Amino acid sequence: MRAMSKESATSPTSGEGKQYHIDCSSGDLARYVLLPGDPDRVPLIGSFWDSYEEVSYHREFRSARGTYKGVDISACSTGIGPASTEIAISELATIGCDTFIRVGTTGAIREDIRCGDLIINVASARLEGTTDDYVSKGYPAFANYEVSLALIEACERSGFSYHTGISASASSFYCGQARPGFGGYWQSRLDNLIPDLAKAGIINFEMEGSVAFVLSTLFGCRAGMICVAIANRITDEWRTEGAQEILSQAGCEAIKILAEWDKIKERSGKRYLYPSLLLGE
Ligand code: URA
Repeated sequence: MRAMSKESATSPTSGEGKQYHIDCSSGDLARYVLLPGDPDRVPLIGSFWDSYEEVSYHREFRSARGTYKGVDISACSTGIGPASTEIAISELATIGCDTFIRVGTTGAIREDIRCGDLIINVASARLEGTTDDYVSKGYPAFANYEVSLALIEACERSGFSYHTGISASASSFYCGQARPGFGGYWQSRLDNLIPDLAKAGIINFEMEGSVAFVLSTLFGCRAGMICVAIANRITDEWRTEGAQEILSQAGCEAIKILAEWDKIKERSGKRYLYPSLLLGE
């Protein structure tokens, strides 16, 4: 292996050992990280915490650390789409973060999912190309089961209703999600995109899930995803107001639950969570 100089184009840092894009170094953030897309959502998420401190804000990557109900927690915005999410997850993993919950917005492709509904995605179809640079298309993009279970538990405890299912992770908001491009630009194959995905049981479009899932699995980290629907592509509903609070709360609560479960695993000397472990049997 090639020795790295201090300043390296292969592993760029922004000085003082900080990861170049997120501008954070080891120990700056908690192991548990919520991942919104929009930097403005970082302080919104932090408004639910007992304490909140902004650690860095460089380009689309805004990072914060605090405590939520006594649990050390962080949030880092990823920006929109697979490419910037790859940067965030890679650099966060490099500084020691190992558990990620993507909290984002989504477009439903099932008629009964209304704007404002929550969706916990347990897997994603890899419609993007970023993860192809890491591993061939046959490799699955799936959420860590403990993180998905914690999200379900969080919604149940908080009384939030939710759907679960598979998302389609697109690298494009317009044509890649069967929306006309500028000037009505269209390709005939897009006619069937939504019906074909829906036929395969895929329930929503988003743009970051498969990168979070594939990279986390490859890196030995854990990732889950909860989204709020702001669009329904079957009914053509579009509503963006509200719901961010519920999404943030569900994400924070899931982190608290995961931290509790991680302690139980540690005390029991178990690597994996299973139902009777939680029942104390
Ligand atoms: N995010 C997406 O990727 N698509 C939508 O329709 C809404 C949010």
